[in-house]
Amino acid sequence: MLNFELYNPVNLVFGRGQIAKLSSLIPKNAKVLLAYGGGSIFNNGVHAQVTEALTGYDITEFGGIEPNPRYETLMKAVDVIREKKLDFILAVGGGSVIDGVKFISAAVKFEGDPIDILQKRIRIENNTMPFGTVLTLPATGSEMNSGSVVTINKTKEKLSFGGPAVFPQFSICDPATVASLPKKQVQNGVVDAFTHVMEQYLTYPHDALLQDRIAEGILQTLIEIGPAVAENPADYKLAANFMWCCTMALNGLIQKGVPTDWATHMIGHELTALYEIDHARTLAIIGPNLYRVLFETKKEKLAQYGRRVWNVMETDTDKAALEAIEKTVQFFHIMGMDTKISNYTADYKNTADFIVKRFEERGWKALGERQNITLDKVKTIVEMSY
Ligand code: NZQ
Ligand code: ZN
Repeated sequence: MLNFELYNPVNLVFGRGQIAKLSSLIPKNAKVLLAYGGGSIFNNGVHAQVTEALTGYDITEFGGIEPNPRYETLMKAVDVIREKKLDFILAVGGGSVIDGVKFISAAVKFEGDPIDILQKRIRIENNTMPFGTVLTLPATGSEMNSGSVVTINKTKEKLSFGGPAVFPQFSICDPATVASLPKKQVQNGVVDAFTHVMEQYLTYPHDALLQDRIAEGILQTLIEIGPAVAENPADYKLAANFMWCCTMALNGLIQKGVPTDWATHMIGHELTALYEIDHARTLAIIGPNLYRVLFETKKEKLAQYGRRVWNVMETDTDKAALEAIEKTVQFFHIMGMDTKISNYTADYKNTADFIVKRFEERGWKALGERQNITLDKVKTIVEMSY
């Protein structure tokens, strides 16, 4: 097992009715920016629950944070905070609102041009505005991690940043909020969380036995409940397990002491930046082709995954690994994913060259757990995904 440090200060408040606890989590004299997205929180009663729980607080609302949050929009929130001298941010929404608030929290106190946080990928160690979250869409794990992904409209770049100072102080996860999610978003959440586990699990055999078993447990649970929760998001048992799986998939726990990949995400982010394909759907497109191209590197772990997660009976490693990839694609299809770029845009012919050029400019010439995903492999993976 590799050496590791585990630091996660998020107070995770999970369960039905927990939004009512907000007033015990935010200081009474705080001047709060309540940040949200396109308005789903007004339709499903979450806004009403939040404002009721915060009766008596000084609240300024800031709506309009987009899915795949935009730098340009977030900077407007920074202006509001400065102008009104606010001192606490509450994110109410999905991963995009939470990621957006992480950026606002860092940008508002940043000395220099905040765009550098993204373009120079500055690690945020201190000097942020405290914030908490009310999660309404299980998927990203952003409620319990210190990462964020923000898109710059002007340059069409989707860039990640993070650091120990952008953990939420608390996150309220009430599975009842899942009930109002469109089927498509539930499907996205399942596949995003599934791929988060794969990025941290599907590498090569190592000595971290417990991490593998936890990862396999999350995958098995997502397979067990995924199709059903997409059909019945109001089923509390399904919603609660879905929500906890998503948090556990990317709160740092299964990543400790193991090699990780993350190339599926790096390539997938470009597809969202170029074509606005939903994040999870980009992962369903790229992931299986990446496993095929990196077959020799990943086949032992693919075979383990096939046998333990999908009950593949095949004793031959190569055959078990291939079957595991096919099972994964089938699962993505069951979860409503289209797995080709051409399913989403007709204008895809130059995608591979464009992504390779971008990666080259950024110096991303060797990705993956063995740093052997070179630019020619990226090109092949993307072309196989057309
Ligand atoms: O904007 P509103 O009106 O709230 O509607 C949202 C949005 O349209 C809607 N929604 C959210 N909760 C709802 C709801 N509709 C009805 N009922 C509810 N309870 O769902 C839509 C999508 O929301 P969004 O927040 O964009 O989705 P998600 O949570 O999947 O977040 C995706 C973003 O997170 C990033 C992605 O790249 C993408 O930008 N990621 C963040 C990560 C992290 N911070 O660790 C890791 C991930 O790999 C990912 O990259
Ligand atoms: Zn993801």
